[in-house]
Amino acid sequence: MSLTIHPSILAADFANLERELQRIQEADLVHVDVMDNHFVPNLTLGLPVVQRLAEVSPLDLDVHLMIEDPDRWAPDYAAAGAASVTFHVEAAADPVATARAIRERGARAAIALKPGTPADPWLDRLDEFDMVLVMTVEPGFGGQEFLHHTMPKLQQVAEAAARAGRDLRIQVDGGISTATIGTAAAHGANTFVAGSSVFRSGDPSKAIQELRRVAHQHPAKALHADR
Ligand code: DX5
Ligand code: ZN
Repeated sequence: MSLTIHPSILAADFANLERELQRIQEADLVHVDVMDNHFVPNLTLGLPVVQRLAEVSPLDLDVHLMIEDPDRWAPDYAAAGAASVTFHVEAAADPVATARAIRERGARAAIALKPGTPADPWLDRLDEFDMVLVMTVEPGFGGQEFLHHTMPKLQQVAEAAARAGRDLRIQVDGGISTATIGTAAAHGANTFVAGSSVFRSGDPSKAIQELRRVAHQHPAKALHADR
């Protein structure tokens, strides 16, 4: 599975999003954080903005929904043009049904797990999802510190995917920089969200290349596929 870098526009200039998108063309997808001020104590943007971003972005959209009632709203983000729609299992009434509704609308479907949320209930349902997001900070804000205690869970997801023979995207989000991306890659992540370390760097293009380089230097540890 290739390693992909997804800059988060949460750290970009919200008054100039189209211009900011031009600065990250080195990246693989663009990560769009949707927050509703209920699931998390922060408010960002919603469907009309995502729809417009999908129209003007040179890169496909990786939409991360931090909202209540994703069962109701997530399929609309797929219809709005997101290539991938991630929602939180803590907020969803029926994650499998919601993932199926996202896929029916032509997008990839993903579940997100907050740092304290176990992965176990989902490990034998991985075929229902295209990606699992293991949050490496509490969702809600950029610029927080990477939580190392999420690494065993990340490895657990990677091992379950290997066991199932699944080409699963395994994403980490929060506190990803050149100092932490190697740790995440070594524990099985293959999809990396980075906000501050890309947009606050002065040279987003170079920052993306550096992240990619360091990730490649830390291949996933031998996974215990027999466990
Ligand atoms: C946090 C968001 C992240 C955020 C990451 O809740 O989901 O995508 O933008 O920002 P950094 O990379 O600054 O931690
Ligand atoms: Zn995010």
